[in-house]
Order: sequence, then structure tokens, then C-alpha cells
Amino acid sequence: MVAPVVIAIDGPSGSGKSSVSRAVATHFGFGYLDTGAMYRAVTLWCLRQGIDLTDAGAVVAAAKDLPLGLGADPQDPTVELDGDDIAEAIRTSEVSAEVSKVATNLGVRAVLQEQQRDLIAIIADDFGGVVAEGRDITTVVAPDADVRILLTASEEARLARRSTQLHGTADAATVAATHDEVVRRDRDDSTVSQFTVAADGVVLLDTSALDFDGSVAAVIGIVEHAEER
Ligand code: DC
Repeated sequence: MVAPVVIAIDGPSGSGKSSVSRAVATHFGFGYLDTGAMYRAVTLWCLRQGIDLTDAGAVVAAAKDLPLGLGADPQDPTVELDGDDIAEAIRTSEVSAEVSKVATNLGVRAVLQEQQRDLIAIIADDFGGVVAEGRDITTVVAPDADVRILLTASEEARLARRSTQLHGTADAATVAATHDEVVRRDRDDSTVSQFTVAADGVVLLDTSALDFDGSVAAVIGIVEHAEER
């Protein structure tokens, strides 16, 4: 493959796409783009500004003018809104519960997809490559990426991972509490982007039986195999 290299990774909640993408980017010395952070940032901004998330036009206008700063270092992917560090604020359950309203707004999607294509080109140039992740990356945002991977895992594995991430454990109560975040949000999001079946040319990687290191190694293997071709 000729640099800059674009690696696109998508998959459902709890598939491990963010942590795996960051580790893969670090391994290759590439930059990182978390497109989900952009949908989350629009959501947070609207909540803070009192913009009604069901007012489609107002949310599109907010997405266009969002004072967002994203850092591409995979070991420290900063997220700033109007100069404020919002890396933690965009992961709160309040934002997670509302973000599908923004992610299913087709006008917002068009605006962010355009910004994401620009960011992918800029980061790839700066770092010699980029790992970009998000629901529609392999199909809509970067269908021409050098390597496209769909990370999946069984619902059980995804619930257990997200529960451990959010609550530090995966017992019956915490898994049940995580159900809405993982299953309901994916069901809502699946009305606008297809991220459970690999599109043509996309490599499907099921990580249900793999731990984190195994998942990272498998993705690196897919990238290296693609390089040989
Ligand atoms: O990956 P995440 O949980 O941070 O994503 C946040 C929300 O944005 C989630 O509802 C999925 C949606 N999303 C999307 O629709 N398209 C993307 N490229 C990335 C995220």
C-alpha cells in the first residue's frame, strides 16, 4: 500500500472498535479519528445550548457551526468544544441516551460525513496514515479506504464488555443496566446506517472469543495481509 494509508473500522456498540482502533493506530504510528465523538459533541452542544434535539433544522445548523477541536493522537484523542475539554462529558449516560436522536438526523449525517472525509485526508497526510472508526465509515464515509474492517461480537460479549467499561463489572444487574445503551441504541442507529453485515470488500472480524490483545493482533494481521497484496 502507498502512504498515506486509510484504515476504516466500524461495528456495533461494545464491539471494541474504539479501543482496538486506538491500539492499531498506535502500533502503526498513525493518527486516529473517532467519528462517534462528533455525534456526541453535537448532542452535548445542543443540550448545553437548550436546542431541542427533535428540531432537525436547528440541530443541523448547530452541527455546521460546531466549535469542535479533535486531537488525532491515538494515545490522547482530545475532544474540545469552544476550548473546553469535553472528552468525559460526551461519554455521560445523559449524552449516550440522547445521541441517537442526532445520529438519525440525516441532515446532521450529511454535514458530519463531509467533515469526516476532510479530517481523514488531513490526518492521513499528517501521520502517514489514519485509523478512522464509526458506524458508516466502511460504507459511506470512506468506501475507498485501503483496509475496511467490520468488528462484530455476540450480543452477550458486547454487553459484558460495555458493562465492565461502565461499571467495572459484568454481573447480572450491571449487564441489565447496560442493555439500553448497547441494544436499544444500536437498534435506533440501524435505521440509518448498516453496521452488522459486512459490505462488499469489507473484512468481517468476530471478536467474541478474542480478548483485547487478540483483537488488536487480528486487526494488525488484516492490515499487514492487505499490504502484501
Ligand atoms: O461509537 P459511539 O458510541 O461513540 O457513537 C455515538 C453515536 O453516534 C451512536 O449513536 C452511533 C452514532 N454514530 C454514527 O451514527 N455514525 C458514526 N460514524 C459514528 C457514530
